[in-house]
Amino acid sequence: MKLTFLGHAAFQMESGHYTVLIDPFITGNGQTPFKEADFRKVDYILATHGHGDHIGDTVKIAGRTGATVVANAEISGWLAERGIKVHAMHIGGAYRFPFGRVKLTPAFHGSSIEEGGTRYDGGFPCGFLVTMGDVTVYHSGDTGLMLEMKLLEDEHVDVALLPIGGNFTMDVDDAVKAVSFIKPKKVVPMHYDTFDVIKADPAEFAARAASLAEVKILKPGESLEV
Ligand code: NI
Ligand code: MN
Repeated sequence: MKLTFLGHAAFQMESGHYTVLIDPFITGNGQTPFKEADFRKVDYILATHGHGDHIGDTVKIAGRTGATVVANAEISGWLAERGIKVHAMHIGGAYRFPFGRVKLTPAFHGSSIEEGGTRYDGGFPCGFLVTMGDVTVYHSGDTGLMLEMKLLEDEHVDVALLPIGGNFTMDVDDAVKAVSFIKPKKVVPMHYDTFDVIKADPAEFAARAASLAEVKILKPGESLEV
């Protein structure tokens, strides 16, 4: 699998003939080197929650490419009303798609969707366990540290994508604890430096998590072969 960091909490996963995006916040993302129009062939989009820095360009990209969006039932309903192809799931549920297996994990956070000054119910936020080929990636979504992460040890996570920016999510201290719970082979820090209140030092995280997992700090636009 080729895993590309798109900046903030946005990632692209490519395996076999499939391209899957997670939380494609591109427009307005000061970290990303990409434009929304750069994503021409997208098969699926996974949306962790309704906040603008995650649902991002989901409607635009899915509308243009015909990608199916995988999200909780509430966000799926909201997207379907906007003409987007969806596959609704919910926390704890798993499903085998043509590209691989997806399981929704809980996240401690909010999920409302803002559109044109109106706030919609985005249900319960989630994270994703995604297995494509023989590689399992865990994207935690926005979340605080939680004991539920200890359950992920049994999922044999190859790469964990974890927020380190604090304020809205785990900070470096709690992300290091999360790595000790999940025991992934590799970990990539995300959700930091995009806004003033989430400034964090990925090198500090790397130093402190080094004994627990292989830490890969990706610059926006960089890829990891796993
Ligand atoms: Ni959020
Ligand atoms: Mn966020």
